[in-house]
Amino acid sequence: MRKTLPTLLAAGLAAAAFTTSTQALAYGAGDFFTRFGVAKVTPTSDNGTLGEGTLSTNVDDDTRFAFTLGYRFHDKVGVELLAAEQFKHDFTLTDADGNVIPGSTKHLPPTLTVQYYPLGGTAALVQPYVGVGVNYTRFSSEKVETPGAELNFDSSWGAAGQVGVDLLINDNWALNAAAWYIDIDTDAKIEGVDVGTIKIDPLVVMGGISYRF
Ligand code: NI
Repeated sequence: MRKTLPTLLAAGLAAAAFTTSTQALAYGAGDFFTRFGVAKVTPTSDNGTLGEGTLSTNVDDDTRFAFTLGYRFHDKVGVELLAAEQFKHDFTLTDADGNVIPGSTKHLPPTLTVQYYPLGGTAALVQPYVGVGVNYTRFSSEKVETPGAELNFDSSWGAAGQVGVDLLINDNWALNAAAWYIDIDTDAKIEGVDVGTIKIDPLVVMGGISYRF
């Protein structure tokens, strides 16, 4: 079918209108953003052993409020800092005879990632991203239910990887889902003596809302 001039004009106007209406959603350079929601920290299934293999450790998961702060200094490149409430993990130490010693620890796992947004700067309403970065985890309130035993976990520095997606609702708001894999290992000390390394290496999964301003 031959296209008439009015048809072409109408198509052009529609395209222009579409461009104008989505221009406002421009997702990219100069955006400050925050993402917030609920995050579940699930430690790896093999948490290692303490006391030269005599105690196997098992660290439970925990779910808390979490949020991030970020900035896009380029349409396709940004940085994001993951912050959260303190997470609290229960754990168990099990000896060869099956005796179980319960314990718990709190930690704060701030994670900074540099991110790549393949569709940044386009009108796409689905905006995925990936990131790599670094995590610092500080432990506190380490407790083990053995009378008189003083337990300490060293702070951990490790690499982090991230994937996520924003589903744009309007200029400011988006639905968000994100996951981080974080390398967290901590040296455990009882009465100041090194007793081994606990591998936490968690997957952090967050669902919530993004807000750009
Ligand atoms: Ni690790």
